[in-house]
Amino acid sequence: MTSIFSDRPVWSRVPDDVGEVRLMRVDPYWRKTIGQPWAKAQSSTNSLQGERGMTQHLSPEKILQTGLAFWASKTLLSAIEMGVFTELSRGPESFDSLSGRLGLHPRSARDFLDTLVALGFLARGTDGYSNTPEADLFLDRRKPSYVGGILEMANSRLYPFWAHLTEALRTGLQQNESKTGAADLFVTLYADPARLKEFLGAMTGISHGANMTIARAFPWKDYRTFVDVGTAQGDLGVQIALANPHLHGTGFDLPEVAPIFEEYAGTAGVSDRLTFQPGDFFKQDIPKADVVLMGHILHDWDLPTKRMLIKKAFDALPVGGALVVYEAIIDDDRSMNAFGLMMSLNMLIETKGGFDYTGSDCSSWMKEAGFSTTRVEELVGPDSMVIAIK
Ligand SMILES: C[S@@+](CC[C@H](N)C(=O)[O-])C[C@H]1O[C@@H](n2cnc3c(N)ncnc32)[C@H](O)[C@@H]1O
Repeated sequence: MTSIFSDRPVWSRVPDDVGEVRLMRVDPYWRKTIGQPWAKAQSSTNSLQGERGMTQHLSPEKILQTGLAFWASKTLLSAIEMGVFTELSRGPESFDSLSGRLGLHPRSARDFLDTLVALGFLARGTDGYSNTPEADLFLDRRKPSYVGGILEMANSRLYPFWAHLTEALRTGLQQNESKTGAADLFVTLYADPARLKEFLGAMTGISHGANMTIARAFPWKDYRTFVDVGTAQGDLGVQIALANPHLHGTGFDLPEVAPIFEEYAGTAGVSDRLTFQPGDFFKQDIPKADVVLMGHILHDWDLPTKRMLIKKAFDALPVGGALVVYEAIIDDDRSMNAFGLMMSLNMLIETKGGFDYTGSDCSSWMKEAGFSTTRVEELVGPDSMVIAIK
């Protein structure tokens, strides 16, 4: 390829169907979709005749989109860090005023804002720049629909840590704060109130869609009580309580979480049916309830700890009770849920022994603990829940 910045047709070396490399003309379509590495690439390359006469479309588009996806990612993360979408939630703003208020250098300002237009997060009209509807709903910090918590954490923590992925792949070792001698992810986070708040907000951001689905899709009418283990800010419990007025629930988590949980439950108006119980699931039993929930918990830990937590959930339930485990459950063939697989790499970066797993892995651990039946149900996006009945 000559230059990725050229408007001229790009020539690329691509392997043909018998493994040889030849030059072919590639329409630079990828530049329009560079922010969407998982977008289905529209093939714009020559057709090749495969060995059995089948037409194959080979294109470097997906390779280039994925390889350079960090450009788009970091542009969006910096925009969130600078509060671009929160600033623009008041309405459109001229280039001069917006770039001045954001403190953008004249060299970067036009390119940065126009990149956000090209990526689909801002619109540009005669009255200046404005949020697109999605950016306005989900990236304005002042709205309850804000999902930027996880992206703030991605910007401040995950982005620098992922620069050391190759080292993690070679050594099997964490690449986060622990590298500088800090003990454990949660101990480190919980020692710093600002980071704790950021982390718990991030968890709400990543879990909210699935939480709302669980609150509606699970057969709650058959149960009266629930406990959410590792509840964080408590969004799962809040959504379940809001959608099911007959239920009483408990959020179980480390004591430092209490004030943040209680504020969140209070704001949602469910404090009379949703209470916090401080505890450490390594030292204490899980509180008893008809349904035990674990969202993004098991993947933090190694296999013996996963088994220990599932056994503690079994012991907390009555006969007929349910354990609901949910996160980005990997498909059994381990070939489809790229997000779930990358989440597992993220656990390599972030934890000592954590990893993500398939629905059938989880079902087998649940059966070992004594559960009689299990089933896997899709939630939203990459998330699924594994339900086990005692
Ligand atoms: C990855 S977050 C998941 C939060 C939430 N369930 C969700 O899906 O958004 C893990 C949670 O487990 C909690 N946690 C970690 N260690 C714990 C322990 N030993 N006992 C109780 N909770 C713990 C953390 O405080 C945190 O809230």
